[in-house]
Amino acid sequence: MDVEAKKRALRMITYGLYVVTAADGDEVAAGTVNWLSQASFDPPLVMVGIKVGSRLHALIERTGAFAVNVLAADQKAIAQDFFRTTKVEDGRLSGHPVEPGPATGAPLLVELPAWWEARVVDKVARGDHTVYVAEVVEAGVRRPDAQPLVMWDTGWYYGG
Ligand SMILES: Cc1cc2nc3c(=O)[nH]c(=O)nc-3n(C[C@H](O)[C@H](O)[C@H](O)COP(=O)(O)O)c2cc1C
Repeated sequence: MDVEAKKRALRMITYGLYVVTAADGDEVAAGTVNWLSQASFDPPLVMVGIKVGSRLHALIERTGAFAVNVLAADQKAIAQDFFRTTKVEDGRLSGHPVEPGPATGAPLLVELPAWWEARVVDKVARGDHTVYVAEVVEAGVRRPDAQPLVMWDTGWYYGG
């Protein structure tokens, strides 16, 4: 295989950007991810690739649940805040206000325009990321007019 072509071709996959969160009691993890897609209408399934060894991976393994917070086009700075290990202070995640998800308790970032909670129904643990397939069990929209943040427009890459 032409390794450079593989890298360039895979980087042409189009992505959005999301903050995925998980919680087990007081223990919380969050990370900005792009390897995420819907995978079924009925039941409503999503799939997400989560880095093995990350705190997010550990908490999803333990609880079998997570929340996805959709970033808006003007929230690149918030995306950046969740590339680093999440700090929990005064009930905020890395400085951002949250509320517990009604179905799973995973934190919802109230500044972000839309969210859903999902329970893991299957997984593929083969590479350096585990692909979780999860059923959407609760969802909400705070800003219906918001445009989602698009990976290509940020100049960032995670893939190849
Ligand atoms: C542009 C970009 C995209 C990312 N996409 C993913 C992703 O799809 N899946 C993932 O597990 N981590 C992804 N990460 C890494 C996470 O944002 C974050 O670094 C990690 O979850 C934090 O790990 P920790 O829990 O070990 O601190 C991405 C990082 C960057 C910079």
